Amino acid sequence: MNVVVVGSGIAGLTAALHAAEAGHRVTLATKGALGDGCTGYAQGGVAGVYGPHDSAEQHAADTITAGAGLSDVDAVEVLVRGAADRIAELITRGVAFDRDVDGRLLLGHEAAHSHARIVHAGGDATGTAISRVLVASVRGGSRIGVVEHAMLIDLIVAGDTVRGIRLLVDGVIDVLDADAVILATGGAGCLYAHTTNPEGTTGDGIAAAIRAGAAVSDLEFVQFHPTVLSMGSPFLISEAVRGEGATLVDDAGRRFVFDTHPDGELAPRDVVSRAIARRAAEQGAPVRLDATMLGAGRLSRRFPTIDRVTRERGLDWSTRPVPITPAAHYLMGGVQTDLDGRTTLRGLYAVGEVARTGVHGANRLASNSLLEGAVFGARAASALGDPWREWQAAAPPRQVAAPVAAHASFERAALQHLMWDRVGLLRDTHGLETTLGTVRAWAAAATTPTTVCEHEDANLLLLAEATASAALSRVDPVGAHYREPAPAPLLEAV
Ligand code: SIN
Repeated sequence: MNVVVVGSGIAGLTAALHAAEAGHRVTLATKGALGDGCTGYAQGGVAGVYGPHDSAEQHAADTITAGAGLSDVDAVEVLVRGAADRIAELITRGVAFDRDVDGRLLLGHEAAHSHARIVHAGGDATGTAISRVLVASVRGGSRIGVVEHAMLIDLIVAGDTVRGIRLLVDGVIDVLDADAVILATGGAGCLYAHTTNPEGTTGDGIAAAIRAGAAVSDLEFVQFHPTVLSMGSPFLISEAVRGEGATLVDDAGRRFVFDTHPDGELAPRDVVSRAIARRAAEQGAPVRLDATMLGAGRLSRRFPTIDRVTRERGLDWSTRPVPITPAAHYLMGGVQTDLDGRTTLRGLYAVGEVARTGVHGANRLASNSLLEGAVFGARAASALGDPWREWQAAAPPRQVAAPVAAHASFERAALQHLMWDRVGLLRDTHGLETTLGTVRAWAAAATTPTTVCEHEDANLLLLAEATASAALSRVDPVGAHYREPAPAPLLEAV
């Protein structure tokens, strides 16, 4: 079978390797260089190694609790049961996860996990370590064709079946025919003014899937990571730092998150991020992450990347708390899939952040994302050999008024600030309605895109419309979707 994989994070690389190893002819297309993208930025690690008092059941329960009860339990079961094989595979391929002097894997702890169960590499450089190894496997004799610096423009659909993709390479449209397409293009962090995601995370796969008529859902569930350094460009400070004991303090030095949740700094991410945003607004200054109790030696050994970057920015986090802010980090929703990555369009699969498997519910548990990419990337590849199976999606495809991508007359920064202010951590009906109005007006003034940047803008615009309207449809606040209750109707004067 001719298989095209789009995207080269952990999900795409895993899917491509497994598909090639199963004997398929695989072409991997990616927008940047192979391995660019979010995986390389991941710090915390991969959840799923269970100590003597831990288990897959506990991991599943934590995942469902963090997801505010909206996770698909079958998908969660697949995730946690797949952890052992996928982590073993990464080790076999050459990922050197950190170990103690006796050779046992060191397990990190992060918020909302009941146990330490997260393997990491290079202290806080897990994503880089994984990406390097998988890229080397793809380049080194896997017989996978690689097309770099190629932006996905659209899916080619004939009848009800996906037959390939259109790419923009060096300003020219190229076509790759395929019997199956696996989308692994990641999320859409660039929808927001502040994000941990690298440039180019513009929701290209989700937008292409919407235009092709695939069902998407849960786009209102956008995760904001609580601790991003607020000096200089956004830089993630891993949740593992809080897992080791660091605290969050306000201007008075008070640990304010306990006012909101009994687990304090180790409460689920959505809770912690909202508490930070509110406290920062109240005091008119950023709150701070205090890691001083961990000491200079431990910080530099366990978190060498964060230690280097904070020092490059003139901060000594071993002696003083550092200013942090939440930033857009991860999209729980996406293209709806079954447990093997099949979308609602025959021949189209989606894996990793682009997909909505149902694993994350309304809020993703820390360090489940690399795991999801590996588990579902491998499952989609092995499902390629099976006959296509229809399945019942949770929500029907969106009706897109203008199915052709279009470049609108707007500045990307204006869209990002609008989304940050109105469709971010704290939402209300008025903000969502005005955002939809603005975004739709921009879309009405659209012209056909030609450059990569214009195609990205068009995708962001489509995603903004879909996200704001999903947020408007979900009235009750849950997980990462926080919406102020609508004010009570005014009584008519007598
Ligand atoms: C982190 O290290 O805090 C990020 C890990 C994740 O997003 O799961």
